[in-house]
Amino acid sequence: MSLVERALKKLQESSRERASVVPAAVNRPAPAPAGTPPPPPANRIVMPQHAPVSVDRNALRAAGLLPPEHQERQVADQFRQIKRPLIANATGRGAKKVANGHLIMTASALPNEGKTFTSINLALSLAMEKDITVLLVDADVAKRHLSKIFGVEKEAGLLDALKDDALDLESLVIPTDIPGLSLLPAGTRTDIATELLSSAHMETTVARLGASSPNRIVLLDSPPLLLTSESRALASVVGQVVVVVCAGRTPQQAVIDAVGHVPSDKILGFILNQCDVQASEGYYYGDGYYGESKD
Ligand SMILES: Nc1ncnc2c1ncn2[C@@H]1O[C@H](COP(=O)(O)OP(=O)(O)O)[C@@H](O)[C@H]1O
Ligand SMILES: [Mg+2]
Repeated sequence: MSLVERALKKLQESSRERASVVPAAVNRPAPAPAGTPPPPPANRIVMPQHAPVSVDRNALRAAGLLPPEHQERQVADQFRQIKRPLIANATGRGAKKVANGHLIMTASALPNEGKTFTSINLALSLAMEKDITVLLVDADVAKRHLSKIFGVEKEAGLLDALKDDALDLESLVIPTDIPGLSLLPAGTRTDIATELLSSAHMETTVARLGASSPNRIVLLDSPPLLLTSESRALASVVGQVVVVVCAGRTPQQAVIDAVGHVPSDKILGFILNQCDVQASEGYYYGDGYYGESKD
């Protein structure tokens, strides 16, 4: 049975309870040794520091991006399990250190499978670690769900960094009132977002974000692997890919095809997510459109 089939079998066995997430980390063959990220350009333009963003848990809950209060503890426990192997791979504590293991992407085959839900809950869980900080990056620049929910949609961010390598990356990073958690918004809209996200510059930008502090984990919320080429480009720059599978809804073939877009040297983990079964928009396999107007 293939890795994906095994994950899908677990999916079928998973509980039907909503908001349930089950980690199923699957290691792939050992990746190549870590490369040294290139130094930042000398001619940086430094932007004024942003005031910390307040993380409003009630607003996140109302938006369906945190579990309802009665499931909070259960889901927090599940994310605790999910983060352990990710941290081990990123830091080399309890596992072999993975090349670029501190660069983690939340991915899925299709929209509405719980990537943003997972990114936020995982980021909050990672930020609770004493010796780790987490930079949550809105790399789904078409939907920019994270940027909207944290009220930073109009701020400069990832796209600006990709467009202008003279910008000081760290000045685009927005602190939050949660210790250890900061944000990088999607940034200023541009017609060439796909090209920017798929460019070689993306690799150096993400590497620089991860290199700014030895304790930092960069967590990228991304668009669906089967509908966007930029998501596939992102998969090649990170060290670990967390694939969210919507229990009972994502077609098996879609998961298999999505995983096929992840380079084989990446550490791959699956989260079987009991996502919003009401969400019907845009998840049909083969629906080639992905963008804001379908939000
Ligand atoms: N485990 C979960 N529990 C409750 N609601 C969830 C869960 N996962 C996803 N959802 C809901 O499903 C919808 C799609 O999730 P989202 O994270 O936005 O998907 P994606 O980022 O993959 O497009 C959202 O309305 C979200 O509130
Ligand atoms: Mg999303």
